[in-house]
Amino acid sequence: MNIAANPVVEADQTVYLKDYQKPSFLVNSVDLNIQVFAEHTRVTAKLDMQRQTAGDLVLLGRDLTLESVRLNGTELSSEAYQLDAEQLVISNAPDQALIETVVLIHPESNTQLEGLYQAAADLFVTQNEPEGFRKITFYPDRPDVLSVFTTRVEADKKFPVLLANGNLIEKGEAGEGRHYAIWQDPTKKPAYLFACVVGDLAVLKDSYVTSEGRNVALEIYAEQKDIPKCHIAMQALKHSMRWDEEHYGLPYDLDNYMIVATSAFNMGAMENKGLNIFNTSCVLADEEFTTDAAIMRVQSVIAHEYFHNWTGNRITCRDWFQLCLKEGLTVFRDQSFSEDLQSAAVQRIDDVAVLKAHQFPEDSGPLSHPPRPDHFVEINNFYTATVYEKGAEINRMMATLLGKEKFRAGTDEYFKRHDGQAVTVEDWVAALTAGSGVDLSAFLTWYNQPGTPKLEAKGEYNADAQTYTLSLKQTLKAHPKYPNLKAVPIPVALALFDAATGEQLSLNSEDLFENGVKDGVYLFDTDAAHITFTGVAAQPVVSLLRNFSAPVNLEFDYSDAELAFLLQYETNGFNQWQASQTLLENILLKDQPAEIYIQAMLDTLPKVVAQDPLLASRLFDVPSEGYLGSRIDTDYNPSLIQEKRNALLDTLARAFAAQAKEMYLALDPSAQSEFSQAMGTRALKNILLTMIARQGDEDAFTLAEQQFKHSRNMSERLGALKVLVWNDAPQAEKALIDFYLRFKDEALSMDQWFMIQAAHPKASAETIQYLTEHPDYDLGVPNRIRAVSGGLNSNPVNTWSFGVQHFIDLAKYLDEKNPIVGSRLLQVLSRWYTLAEPQRSEVQAQLEALKPQVKSKNVVETLNTMLSV
Ligand code: BES
Ligand code: ZN
Repeated sequence: MNIAANPVVEADQTVYLKDYQKPSFLVNSVDLNIQVFAEHTRVTAKLDMQRQTAGDLVLLGRDLTLESVRLNGTELSSEAYQLDAEQLVISNAPDQALIETVVLIHPESNTQLEGLYQAAADLFVTQNEPEGFRKITFYPDRPDVLSVFTTRVEADKKFPVLLANGNLIEKGEAGEGRHYAIWQDPTKKPAYLFACVVGDLAVLKDSYVTSEGRNVALEIYAEQKDIPKCHIAMQALKHSMRWDEEHYGLPYDLDNYMIVATSAFNMGAMENKGLNIFNTSCVLADEEFTTDAAIMRVQSVIAHEYFHNWTGNRITCRDWFQLCLKEGLTVFRDQSFSEDLQSAAVQRIDDVAVLKAHQFPEDSGPLSHPPRPDHFVEINNFYTATVYEKGAEINRMMATLLGKEKFRAGTDEYFKRHDGQAVTVEDWVAALTAGSGVDLSAFLTWYNQPGTPKLEAKGEYNADAQTYTLSLKQTLKAHPKYPNLKAVPIPVALALFDAATGEQLSLNSEDLFENGVKDGVYLFDTDAAHITFTGVAAQPVVSLLRNFSAPVNLEFDYSDAELAFLLQYETNGFNQWQASQTLLENILLKDQPAEIYIQAMLDTLPKVVAQDPLLASRLFDVPSEGYLGSRIDTDYNPSLIQEKRNALLDTLARAFAAQAKEMYLALDPSAQSEFSQAMGTRALKNILLTMIARQGDEDAFTLAEQQFKHSRNMSERLGALKVLVWNDAPQAEKALIDFYLRFKDEALSMDQWFMIQAAHPKASAETIQYLTEHPDYDLGVPNRIRAVSGGLNSNPVNTWSFGVQHFIDLAKYLDEKNPIVGSRLLQVLSRWYTLAEPQRSEVQAQLEALKPQVKSKNVVETLNTMLSV
């Protein structure tokens, strides 16, 4: 019997957290036999199940052709069970049930990239989080059912690589040119962590000895030509393994760790136990083919998936509402790891920039939800910036408040209590509380309610009393679905500076939280509060929310002069950057003059460039048009923002003209021995080159052409190519052709080639049409779609004109072919309701018109929620 894909969404498909019930049956062990053939795959599953509570025996399954089902050795007739598009139910099953099913599936035609799918002519891989395993076989596919998996994989010998989780225990001939391998994973795990791989891949091998003396074989599988690009990932893996031992006391627990790279992957990477599967974009790293940003990303994603081994795999989620338990914690861990790899200030800047550019807007619009949602239709729609990024911030706040030692005591307690279990956010906070001895239960409010709190602060200096008093107030915008919003605990890291000398003052205050953290942190956990600092000899300059100590919108009435002061004297690099950003926003959105920013930059730059060139490059960040737009909630006019921003870029290019060229010529990345310093120098040079070109210097194109021709480094090459292409330089066309000819067989480099052209500031509908009709454009490869769509979306004027139909057409096409990616791309339009009329109504009508044309839960839920403003 064949079961339809994409069943029509009915009214009551919403799942609620409050309805959670334990599974009636657990699985002691599971034996899988996966036989891959050219035209189908046969999956035999033996489940040793045991009753836990009263109720039916429920096996979830989707798009499976059932050949047979046996219960305790006896084949069941079709009257003995109920089967529909989602599940196979056996009522009155005995307490001990050995279930044996045989199904046929079709990985060779699976375009959704979920379950088992053919990723390339010579590669089959799985992606089972969150609910893909039910597309492989009938199973209680929920994270609170943990089992021991034994997997036999069988395929034609033209696929020499046969992998699954755990240890290889046997391999051999299977006749007719076929072979098999049997793998056993000793650790109990939920089905979403199951993986298998069948293919023809090369491998890079290394090894690692854990703190416990375990010798772990490390293997990264990729196409032969890409093996030289796997060394950075391998180093990052070993570094992550050491880092987790040193920072959390967590050693690796198996004898092997495998990573498989594929270019057909919906997400970045997946933490399957002992057998991670990665998007090539998150493994392959090489200065010649990938940018510095991509190299940093590879290292952080490798760390992220490795860290899941404890936060996610050994301790997993009870249900998918708890997703931020594993993702928020693991993102916080990978961010901390990355702070050790490069300028910590810049890592924080980049993480906060992502939070503000994606999570804040998400949280202020129709897709807003708590980091732990309380209902969903399609869980794939909840791998959001809020779950990941805000989830990470909640953990960071608790860590900041506790300080290193107490936080470690808390995490130790968590691993001790819950190893081998599927738990909740409450369990995590309770363990941290018990281990640290500090009651953190108030932080649960952060997990349970949506919205970005507004933190209003006012400072008042009293010269007679020599006191400085800070008044704080927190508010949340009313939310129709969450009427009882409460105040949240906000750790406010702060410092006072002597306005005359720039020196940081030592803080005397009754209310300051003492926790051994170097900077003062005040825990603000009520609606309103005052803190008074004593012994302050003159009006100080206050720096608030240092290092972005809480995910809130800070409102403080800084003068431009105070911001310029912080840009120069703040010792926290993040707040230095924040000051530059606030100054630039004031110029852009409040029409303030640019001179103060320019002068502060000229004063500050020489010192910063010498110490941290990457930070220096970030101080030039002019907030993107997209970010500026996301700060506007009504009557948003993308063209107006573009005009203002362009005018500012012109002003800055003129102001820095004299220095820019001189600095550009003086900076030499190859003179830097450390990667992070060289990366910083490259970033700074590229910004300077952009400014030289913008200011109309005739040499700019020659310099860009030289840089493009002579560098073998992708960041330098692309920086130069951007300047040529985006300014329509006479050399642009030839450079694009050169790049194409050199990199046409390198998919990740070609993604950049597509991206640059789609992101041309004057890109038109024809530009996008040329790219999407290019022979190398491929709707089956999410990376390529994202390259063009992401490039297009870097110009909001385009997004909100011809881009609307582009994204709607993609959602419509992908609704059936790949609904996970379709739903994500549609979200680009989620702030349609902020547009000025008549655009607002036009886009609304286009979105309404899409409604009857889509069927998948993913796209339907996203569209409905987007339209429900
Ligand atoms: N567990 C996720 C991968 C995943 C997410 C699979 C959603 C299926 C559905 C993985 O650990 C992850 O979070 N990956 C991120 C990258 C990470 C560095 C934040 C990703 O894929 O974008
Ligand atoms: Zn993750």
